[in-house]
Amino acid sequence: MNNLFKVIFGLTVLALLLLLIPRDSALAFPPAQEETPLIPHTLQGRTNCLSCHAAGVSGAAKVPPSHAGRTNDTCRTCHKTSPTSEIPLVIPTPVARVQATTRDTCVECHTREAGKSPEIVPEWKSSIHSERNVACADCHGGNATADKKEDAHSVKAGYVGKPKTVDVPALCASCHARVESMRQYDLPTDQWAKYLTSTHGEKLAQGDTNVATCFVCHDRHGTKKAQDPSSQVYALNVPGLCASCHSNVELMKPYKIPTNQYQLYAQSVHGIALLQKQNMRAPSCAVCHGTHGAAPPGFEEVANVCGSCHTATQDYYLKSKHASDKAGTPKCVTCHGRYDVGVPSEAMFTGAGERDCTTCHANTTPPAKAIQDLSDQLTASDKMLHDAEAALKRAADSALIVAPEELTLREARTNLITARAAQHTLNLTTVKQRTDKANAAAKKVLAAADKAMNDNILRRQFMAVGLAVLALAVTSLWIVRRELYRQLPPKE
Ligand code: HEC
Ligand code: HEC
Ligand code: HEC
Ligand code: HEC
Ligand code: HEC
Ligand code: HEC
Ligand code: HEC
Ligand code: HEC
Ligand code: HEC
Ligand code: HEC
Ligand code: HEC
Repeated sequence: MNNLFKVIFGLTVLALLLLLIPRDSALAFPPAQEETPLIPHTLQGRTNCLSCHAAGVSGAAKVPPSHAGRTNDTCRTCHKTSPTSEIPLVIPTPVARVQATTRDTCVECHTREAGKSPEIVPEWKSSIHSERNVACADCHGGNATADKKEDAHSVKAGYVGKPKTVDVPALCASCHARVESMRQYDLPTDQWAKYLTSTHGEKLAQGDTNVATCFVCHDRHGTKKAQDPSSQVYALNVPGLCASCHSNVELMKPYKIPTNQYQLYAQSVHGIALLQKQNMRAPSCAVCHGTHGAAPPGFEEVANVCGSCHTATQDYYLKSKHASDKAGTPKCVTCHGRYDVGVPSEAMFTGAGERDCTTCHANTTPPAKAIQDLSDQLTASDKMLHDAEAALKRAADSALIVAPEELTLREARTNLITARAAQHTLNLTTVKQRTDKANAAAKKVLAAADKAMNDNILRRQFMAVGLAVLALAVTSLWIVRRELYRQLPPKE
């Protein structure tokens, strides 16, 4: 009896153990669900997975060797869709799609009985949507041929009224995330997927309606093309758009983040370049933060953001010890700031500011000497350039011809700029190669300017002597004449 119980118990344990082992594999457990990559793209027109993923064409990852023998019909048993692989279709389907030629009673009545929102029809008329015949009913549903409000606003005709703010991105995505809808306009279709990953998109998904939505950034009913200078998303207007919320202390209070980004940005080298000098190569807020994926870049990405424009400077920086992975090494933003990048200068080497070298390298530490050398080298070169500039100016003010020296001066200036970029290597020899060239050119200018001035002085001295001689001659002639007259016999 006791033994029988033991056998049954043993068999039960064995059965349970067997159940734990997958049927189709030799004790190999299937990979955990979270290790299987999700499908990040839409499935429309993409059911033949291997047509792209077998060889790995145009950006598609090649299937790993473990996938040998797997066929298209198996892929989706493991690879699940992600939120971005299913584009919502929230655009209501109107009973009668408005044609450019037919009446649009929504527009007619909303012009006549504008009620509390008289700005909407004129705004819409100025939009790219109106130009492309995307009408009221395409976003709001309803019957755009009915004269009576009740019929036009009929739920049966798909009327949804004012969309809820949380539904707005999906509404826009139902056209803008579809390749087949946007191909003819040559527009990218990634805005929605990116927006979902942004801080704005994440917060909205949690029900926070204070954040930026597609509708807010894109001029509400007056949606413009991004390149239209009157659009809020036109590069020059972007800082103002972001500031409309991010500088709003009341709105930002719950989030406990600073509200001075615009103020600091507007005074930064980039803000001055973009907003005052209309230099479109300078970054707006959206260039650093991403247009639709608005998020603060992590430190890794930040170095790359700056380097995407300052490529030469980044190359120098990457050669330095600072570019190592070691904890506490400075990145671009450590020394220059983020939205508040100031004008850099030699003062950063020895200054006591919180971004200056001394923050990490006290005077007593080994790099202090190297820092002083870099600083001395650049400061001396800078002084020489200024002296040369001043001398040349004096020469020019004296109406001397200085055109050839102007060219040499420009050469000095370029080399000094390159030296300032090259100091990012922290290598004195590299810097010295440039400053030596700058110094040589500056010296040449200085010498030429001095010579021109000296020649000028000599010429003036000669002229003075000449004038004196002339005056002497005239005076002597006059004396002689007077003497001669005196010797003449008096008149009758
Ligand atoms: C027309 C080409 C094409 C087809 C067909 C296609 N894909 Fe893709 N796939 C891509 C590209 C390109 C990417 C890279 C991400 C992107 O650009 O959206 C990608 C990314 C992926 C990834 C993410 C890989 C990673 O690096 O994390 C998975 C998983 C995937 N696809 C699965 C599938 C499955 C399953 C199918 C079939 C239902 C399929 N794909 C069909 C082009 C394709
Ligand atoms: C049994 C589950 C399973 C099936 C079926 C399956 N995959 Fe995978 N796939 C995975 C896992 C797990 C990974 C990640 C681990 C690895 O690299 O092997 C992966 C990786 C991939 C990758 C590489 C992603 C990258 O980042 O490099 C692609 C592409 C891919 N699969 C496509 C496919 C396609 C196409 C099919 C259908 C022909 C398919 N898979 C069928 C489980 C599966
Ligand atoms: C006969 C007049 C009339 C017609 C036709 C009409 N509307 Fe309206 N609609 C109104 C009035 C009046 C209001 C309420 C006042 C306001 O919000 O301006 C209104 C409100 C709305 C609102 C705001 C609802 C809300 O909850 O705030 C939307 C959206 C709207 N209409 C869309 C449409 C669309 C789309 C059509 C065409 C399919 C249409 N309307 C046709 C008169 C009309
Ligand atoms: C591209 C899509 C789109 C088109 C086209 C469009 N709307 Fe709207 N409309 C919206 C969205 C989105 C909102 C809600 C915005 C929000 O979250 O406040 C809205 C809001 C409204 C409101 C409510 C305003 C308020 O402040 O309460 C009215 C009224 C309205 N639309 C009327 C119209 C009329 C009339 C037209 C045509 C002349 C039109 N809309 C065209 C997307 C659109
Ligand atoms: C925080 C503000 C912001 C939000 C939110 C936003 N956009 Fe944009 N969008 C921009 C800016 C800025 C540009 C201009 C990009 C450029 O000049 O390259 C732009 C450009 C575009 C373009 C032109 C093509 C392109 O990609 O450059 C489209 C279409 C577009 N957005 C659609 C959308 C849709 C759809 C959503 C919502 C899912 C959305 N945007 C949300 C700021 C925003
Ligand atoms: C019914 C389809 C449809 C819906 C819904 C829709 N759009 Fe559009 N949108 C278009 C079309 C078509 C164009 C014209 C494309 C072109 O000519 O460049 C366009 C153009 C745009 C552009 C200009 C892109 C450029 O060329 O720079 C922006 C921005 C834009 N839409 C934003 C939105 C936003 C925000 C929403 C949601 C409130 C929205 N759209 C909803 C169809 C739609
Ligand atoms: C309609 C208001 C609004 C507009 C317009 C807006 N934002 Fe925001 N943004 C918010 C709100 C609200 C948050 C949430 C704050 C939080 O979670 O810390 C946020 C969050 C952010 C964050 C993340 C901050 C953090 O560290 O938590 C960044 C970065 C950001 N926005 C950048 C931008 C940029 C760049 C623009 C302009 C292209 C912009 N925003 C336009 C309202 C707005
Ligand atoms: C030259 C690049 C650059 C520009 C231009 C820029 N930012 Fe930033 N921004 C950054 C960096 C870097 C961070 C910090 C990221 C971190 O700490 O991880 C940041 C952080 C932020 C944050 C998070 C809160 C905070 O203050 O730390 C907000 C919000 C923000 N920026 C908004 C803006 C706005 C609005 C503008 C335009 C007026 C702007 N940024 C322009 C690079 C930039
Ligand atoms: C979109 C391109 C772009 C990006 C991204 C960018 N910059 Fe700039 N930056 C410029 C331009 C253009 C100027 C010249 C402005 C002017 O006219 O004075 C400039 C000027 C500067 C200057 C002043 C140079 C001088 O000699 O006065 C510094 C320092 C600087 N940037 C640092 C940075 C840092 C740090 C980052 C990253 C946080 C960054 N930049 C990101 C384009 C960019
Ligand atoms: C945020 C802290 C920080 C700041 C600010 C900083 N450094 Fe450094 N620096 C480091 C660290 C950490 C190392 C050591 C890196 C290593 O050994 O891998 C280092 C190393 C150096 C070295 C030694 C390089 C070598 O070849 O051994 C020099 C020289 C140097 N820094 C110069 C500077 C100058 C010049 C500045 C200002 C323009 C500066 N540092 C600002 C952290 C900083
Ligand atoms: C250790 C601090 C430090 C780091 C890290 C740093 N810089 Fe600099 N940067 C300086 C100093 C100091 C100057 C001024 C040199 C001078 O004027 O003599 C300068 C000058 C510049 C200038 C103007 C001269 C030039 O190169 O055109 C630009 C632009 C610049 N930095 C961009 C960057 C970028 C982009 C990065 C990241 C790839 C970066 N810096 C990293 C300290 C730093």
